[in-house]
Amino acid sequence: MRAAVVKGVGASLPQRVVTNDELAGYLDTSDEWIRSRTGIGTRRWVDAGVSTADLATQAGALALRSAGIDRVDAVVVATTTPDRLCPATAPEVATRLGMTGISAHDVNAVCTGFLYGLASAVGLIAAGNADTVLMIGAETFSTILDPKDRGTAVIFADGAGALVLRAGEAHEPGAIGPLVLGSDGSLADLIQIPAGGSRQRSSGVSAPPEDYFFKMRGREVYRHAVERMSASALEALSRAGLTMSDVDKFVPHQANQRISVAVGMRLGISAEQTVSNVERVGNTAAASIGLLLAEATAEGSLRAGQRLLLTAFGGGLTWGATTMVWPQVTAHISSPPRPGVEALAS
Ligand code: COA
Repeated sequence: MRAAVVKGVGASLPQRVVTNDELAGYLDTSDEWIRSRTGIGTRRWVDAGVSTADLATQAGALALRSAGIDRVDAVVVATTTPDRLCPATAPEVATRLGMTGISAHDVNAVCTGFLYGLASAVGLIAAGNADTVLMIGAETFSTILDPKDRGTAVIFADGAGALVLRAGEAHEPGAIGPLVLGSDGSLADLIQIPAGGSRQRSSGVSAPPEDYFFKMRGREVYRHAVERMSASALEALSRAGLTMSDVDKFVPHQANQRISVAVGMRLGISAEQTVSNVERVGNTAAASIGLLLAEATAEGSLRAGQRLLLTAFGGGLTWGATTMVWPQVTAHISSPPRPGVEALAS
C-alpha cells in the first residue's frame, strides 16, 4: 500500500497576542489561575474580519513553499470553525492557492481534527486518488467563544498548521504510521455548540444567545482526554510494532499543559521528550498538532530522524494517535512566536 510522506510544513498565527491579564480585565480570573490550571500564558486571536480560510490559506501557502511545489492533487481542511456552515472551507482555500478544480473537503473532529484530517489525506494517497495532498488544520476559535465564559475563553485560540504529503513508501522518513482513531457520541454534550445546527433549528424553538457559543464541561473532559490520549498512543505504537523506548519525541495535541503532563506520566515519557507550545499559543484545536510540528521544527526541538508519537483528543468525543519518523524539512511560519524563529510572510 502507498504511504503518505511529509514533504512540507507551514503555519500561520494571527498577529494579535492576548495576555492572561487582558482576559482578567473583564473576566473573574487571573494570570496565576490560568497558568497553574492550563499552562497558558498568551494566545493569538484574529483581528476583526480575519477568518479561518485566511489563516488556512497562509499556512497552506507556506507548507507548499516548504515542500518546494506550487500544486497538489487535493486539499483537506480540518476545522471546527469553518467560514460558513455551508459550503466547506477547503474549496475556497484551494482556489485562493491557485488550484481551482482539485479535490477539496473539510473534516470536523474538533481538537482531534488534525489526525482525522491526516487520515483523510492518507486514504486519498493510499487509494491512488491523489499523489500529493495539502492537509491544513485551521481555527478561529475566538469567533465561537463566549466572552463571559471563563472556563473556555482562557483556553482556546486561533491559528493554522499545514502539511504537504506525497505518495511514498512506509519505511521512508516522514511516512505517516498506522493511525488509531476513535469516538464516543454518547458524550457529545461535553463539548458542543448547542444552537445553530439542525437539531435546534428543526425544534422550532429559538435558543438563548449563549447557546450559539462553544461550551465545555472541563473537568469531565480532562478525565476522558487523559485516558483516551494515553490508550490510543499505546495502541498506535503497538500497531506500528514499536514500544515506548523507540519514541524520541512526544507531540500531544496542546489541550492544556496539565493534560500533556498527565498523559506523558502515564506513558513514561519525560518532560524533555515532550514538545509543547501551549504556553504561547493556547489550545488551537484542529490546528494544534500542525502548528506544534511547524514551530518545534523551526526552533530545532524536532529534528530529522527522530521518531515521533502524536496523540489528540476532542469533541465528539473523538481521539487518535499515530507515529512517524520526522523527515528533513524546513518549516515556514507566517508570524514568528519569538525572536530567532524564521519569518516568511506569504
Ligand atoms: N479562572 C478562575 N476560576 C475559574 C476559571 C478561570 N478561568 N475557570 C473555572 N474556574 C473556577 C470554576 O468556576 C470553579 O469554581 P467553583 O469551585 O467556585 O465552582 C473552580 O474554578 C474549579 O473549576 P473546575 O472546572 O473544576 O476547575 P479545574 O481545576 O477542573 O480546571 C479546566 C478547569 C477547564 C482548566 C480543567 O477542567 C481542564 O483543563 N479541563 C480540560 C479542558 C481542555 O483542555 N479541553 C480541551 C480538550 S481538547
